[in-house]
Amino acid sequence: MHHFIQLTDLIEELKACHIHIGDLEHVDAVLQNIISDGPDKLQVVADFDRTLSKYTHRGQICATCHNVLEEGGVLPDFYKEKALKLRDKYFSIETDPEMTIEEKTPYMIEWWTEAHDLLNMCHITKEAVQKMVANSTAKLRDGCKWLFDECHRASIPLLIFSAGVGDVIEEIIHQQSTLYDNMHIVSNYMNFDKEGKMVGFKNDIIHVFNKNENAIHKSDYFENLKDRVNIILIGDSLGDLQMADGAEHMKNKLKIGFLNTKVDETLELYKKKFDIVIVQDESLDLLNAVIRKVI
Ligand code: C5P
Repeated sequence: MHHFIQLTDLIEELKACHIHIGDLEHVDAVLQNIISDGPDKLQVVADFDRTLSKYTHRGQICATCHNVLEEGGVLPDFYKEKALKLRDKYFSIETDPEMTIEEKTPYMIEWWTEAHDLLNMCHITKEAVQKMVANSTAKLRDGCKWLFDECHRASIPLLIFSAGVGDVIEEIIHQQSTLYDNMHIVSNYMNFDKEGKMVGFKNDIIHVFNKNENAIHKSDYFENLKDRVNIILIGDSLGDLQMADGAEHMKNKLKIGFLNTKVDETLELYKKKFDIVIVQDESLDLLNAVIRKVI
């Protein structure tokens, strides 16, 4: 407790009332280690939608990768109608605090399969993706540009692991910040034919609850970073907790979770699963405060 009081003095942002911590002593110890080991030992793994991107901007709900395609004003009306119907059906399952991940998974596979099939019918182009992103309400969180710039400057690897659409994520980052070479995106990427029209997706579906079993854990990504024994994981879904399962040599892992919806019903569960829970915040201030102490 004594240490924690010292630490909160160090990181002013931890004192904010929308920050919830289940185990203060644990967070204190992990943070002290991560800060004293410095930037060469750190790697960051982040979810994209509603983690690096905003859930709300000045109170108005912002677009996810998929919403960008719906509200972009480019794809045919039937796309938007059907995509919204799918979300009505499946989003409440995704965020249902009463269901287990095992119970939710088959529904998520159904959702992603149907959504990808629907998109395949639209023969979207890369230019259309640029236009839709520019037209959309998708926004990186306040402080995201600072995070990207500083992680790049300090050579801290940043993995963005998303069940959204990789092409849309890259475009959002290009338009609102910079995609640096220390950043790596693992997501659902579109395949384009010779005429530049989308013809399906590359690789297997990444949905919210299979971030434990995908390409990245089988690839050499974490193996190549095995000297970076400290990891900050940041997400908004319980599925995001598995994003760094492939990293086996971890000494210190700090799990930060944004709780964007169903706050009353879900806060206690999130406090058990994430080390730090941030409720209704449009910024990355807390993560950036930690990074600022590390570098
Ligand atoms: O980047 P992240 O992994 O959070 O992206 C997945 C999010 O996209 C999910 O939280 C889900 O609600 C949303 N989604 C959507 N439409 C789909 C599939 C997923 O809005 N067709």
